[in-house]
Amino acid sequence: MKKQLTLSFVTAVLLTACGQSTNNTAANAGSAAAPAQTTSKGKQLFADNCARCHAMKTDNLGPKLDGVFNRWSDSTQVADFVKNSSAVIQGGKNTYATALFHKWSDMPMPPFTNLKDEEIQQILTYIHSGVE
Ligand code: HEC
Repeated sequence: MKKQLTLSFVTAVLLTACGQSTNNTAANAGSAAAPAQTTSKGKQLFADNCARCHAMKTDNLGPKLDGVFNRWSDSTQVADFVKNSSAVIQGGKNTYATALFHKWSDMPMPPFTNLKDEEIQQILTYIHSGVE
């Protein structure tokens, strides 16, 4: 009797364990596809184009990007700056961008005219979410 109980207990544990692992796999696959998609696209674009110079929390070859939208009086210009920073600086109208450029030893950030406006927005959304 005791042996039988032990055996059915073991069987139950095994069944539960197997059932759980199947469920987990299915659940993970589902959640990865839906809400993470936009952020992960921005994250990937950031990793490919920006991460060699920028981090979120620390200055690198370029300034840290944590809270960057609060530093710009017109945050819509951040997208123009990412696309072609020299054009914004040369325009001379954005004193913040000009001062930042001088602060960073007049090292121009390279233009990203290869990125679509939509892709720049995805990167900015990712930066805005503040994830490293
Ligand atoms: C080669 C290095 C380099 C790369 C690559 C680079 N940046 Fe920059 N970035 C800089 C530097 C340097 C500055 C400081 C401004 C200047 O020198 O013109 C800057 C400034 C900025 C600013 C303004 C920061 C502030 O404090 O206001 C933003 C926003 C920004 N970069 C976003 C990006 C994004 C998004 C990418 C990728 C698409 C990128 N950068 C790629 C070097 C880089």
